[in-house]
Amino acid sequence: MRAVVTGGAGFIGSHLVDALLARGDEVVVVDDLSSGRRDWVPAEAVLVEHDIREPYSIEADLVFHLAAQADVGTSMEKPSFDAEVNVVGTVNTLEAARACGAEVVFSSTGGAIYGDVAEPASEATPRRPVSAYGIAKLCAEAYLDGWNRIHGSNHTVLRFANVYGPRQSAALEGGVVSIFMERFQNGEETLVFGDGEQTRDYVFVGDVVRAALAAAGRGGVLNVGTGVETTVNELHRLCAAVAGVAVEPRHVKARPGDARRSVLDSSHAERELGWRPETSLADGLRLTWESIAS
Ligand SMILES: NC(=O)c1ccc[n+]([C@@H]2O[C@H](COP(=O)([O-])OP(=O)(O)OC[C@H]3O[C@@H](n4cnc5c(N)ncnc54)[C@H](O)[C@@H]3O)[C@@H](O)[C@H]2O)c1
Repeated sequence: MRAVVTGGAGFIGSHLVDALLARGDEVVVVDDLSSGRRDWVPAEAVLVEHDIREPYSIEADLVFHLAAQADVGTSMEKPSFDAEVNVVGTVNTLEAARACGAEVVFSSTGGAIYGDVAEPASEATPRRPVSAYGIAKLCAEAYLDGWNRIHGSNHTVLRFANVYGPRQSAALEGGVVSIFMERFQNGEETLVFGDGEQTRDYVFVGDVVRAALAAAGRGGVLNVGTGVETTVNELHRLCAAVAGVAVEPRHVKARPGDARRSVLDSSHAERELGWRPETSLADGLRLTWESIAS
């Protein structure tokens, strides 16, 4: 297969590139390196430095579209920039894929699209994004759905839970695991917003990559999470244990718009793809800590 990975120099994308190369695909990475890193793109892959806000062309069978402005705070400060990358960039990617007949797998977000939930969100749960990032991702999903209808393609939407693992940037807001661990390593204090009893669904990057590979060309909308809720307080304890430090976080004012509960029901992906997460939080945190501490 000839695979294009947009955002392939980033956290999730670079792991996906590794997996595609390992199964023998030819891989081209399209990335502007705004948050990704050149040295995460293996020598066996071709890196095309391109900003997807501008139209482009590719030759591929499959396109994994991960390039994004993925920071919620930035999306609120610069919503039109966020829409240019996450909406216009997706339209440009769909058009590039259409010109060569490739199927697209799009990395959407469960947490930012469903917002606060009373129970694990299924794909049918009402979408109530509370950030410009979530709105843009939902809009991009609508383009995939519309392109499938209009052009007869079979593009797939994956709604990821909170992805964590090696290479995640502590500089970006979503990387709470990396933030805690890097701070432990540097002997810096850690902050928890509000009472820390808010829950999230943490899915290991390796499991997300397996879901993306399994979903390619299948079509539809699928949640990719664990269904397990972990409070931020509990996550902090687990990260501290893995890092071998005994510290308590400092609790600061809750952030407006932070969901109380965010958890995904991924039974649809299990039925459709035979996919289920395989990495426990304890194992995933250990692997993440080893990558940070090494
Ligand atoms: N990390 C998570 O928890 C999570 C959760 C849900 C969805 N997602 C989605 O998964 C995808 C990958 O996220 P990530 O965590 O690896 O983030 P990341 O920031 O590490 O990766 C994004 C990549 O896109 C590139 N990029 C950004 N703007 C670009 C542009 N205009 N043109 C070309 N390339 C551009 C960056 O350089 C980077 O390599 C994103 O679409 C994100 O929205 C991530």
